[in-house]
Amino acid sequence: MRILAIETSCDETALALLEAKGGINQPFFKVIKSFVSSQIKIHAPFGGVVPALAKRQHLKNLPLLLEKVLGKDPFSQKQQIEKIDLIAVTVGPGLEPALWTGISFAQQLSQEWKKPLVGANHLEGHLFSFLLSSKFFDKKRLESLKNYSLKLWFPAISLIVSGGHTILVLLKNLKNYQKIGETLDDAVGESFDKVARLLGLSYPGGPEIERLAKKGNAQAIAFPLPMISQKNFNFSYSGLKTAVLYYLRDLNTSTKENNHNFWKPGAFKINPSLREDIAASFQRAAFLPLVKKSSLAALKYQAKSIFLGGGVAANKKLAQMIRKEIKDKKIKANLVVPSLNYCLDNAVMIGVAAYLNRLSKKKYPLKANGNLNL
Ligand code: KG4
Ligand code: ZN
Repeated sequence: MRILAIETSCDETALALLEAKGGINQPFFKVIKSFVSSQIKIHAPFGGVVPALAKRQHLKNLPLLLEKVLGKDPFSQKQQIEKIDLIAVTVGPGLEPALWTGISFAQQLSQEWKKPLVGANHLEGHLFSFLLSSKFFDKKRLESLKNYSLKLWFPAISLIVSGGHTILVLLKNLKNYQKIGETLDDAVGESFDKVARLLGLSYPGGPEIERLAKKGNAQAIAFPLPMISQKNFNFSYSGLKTAVLYYLRDLNTSTKENNHNFWKPGAFKINPSLREDIAASFQRAAFLPLVKKSSLAALKYQAKSIFLGGGVAANKKLAQMIRKEIKDKKIKANLVVPSLNYCLDNAVMIGVAAYLNRLSKKKYPLKANGNLNL
């Protein structure tokens, strides 16, 4: 089945063409084309995504990316279109004005080309993007493993960590999964973006903090580790962000006296080596609860795998910390991380989610739903 997938839930416009085959225990995916047009530069001066600007950029980018996918020549375009079996589009969660641009665009194509159209859940995209890790995604390996079965990897625990979500999921297989925990307030990616802002770094904050943290001492400052010892699988990140804010405020007595707006870029004067220590200590405090709770869940449910997904999974330190914990606690689970491009928002994962939904006969209404969950 050849799928054209469209993703416009936040600040990336993404289009992909992929080939999917195989049943629910043996799916195969081959990416034919995948393009992501990032709007980071447009939103960066505002320190976060501005919905009206995102919508305008998606409207501008969608036809450009479609031309990249199909090629410029009308004859080859026609040939490409004929081969498409299904169109898939993200219907949520995300910014509704942004989601609608993708849905309306997909509806137009579906009518014009007379092709079926299905909605997909962005979070299922992140959940299933482990299938796009080099462990599964190696073409030669897949071809040599004609009889491979994903059954060997389940039950599994999946940790979805993005700008909007922090969720732990138990998967019995690709069809049956259940959420077992989530953040009670901010998402972990959001806390990276907010702390980066306090440190005067640019948006998005995750990659900037990872870069600085490599040079800093992660033990320098004991930031709180919210909910780490509670025997549930929930998280909380708003207190950690505030702890960094108070730490900086107490260092900058002149700022305190002047009663500045602490969130204004450059509100705090921080010397570069201290900034590195704060980044490293914050990153450790943000990751420890993720590491502890995903390994606790793996033990409780006797998981054979731990899957990561979402933008924060792009952070190498997170995978490194989980690997160490698995080893130290002698947990018999394999860690599977999607290839970098598939941790961050992309359209390939939307095609993967749509294909798996087809196999399990699951449908989403073709309507933007900003709060859609797992
Ligand atoms: O999955 P994603 O691309 O979009 C959402 O669905 O939210 O995730 C974006 C989030 C942002 O908060 C960004 O700061 C974070 O992922 N992120 C990172 C890294 N790269 C992106 N966080 C930590 N370390 C990184 N290397
Ligand atoms: Zn995402």
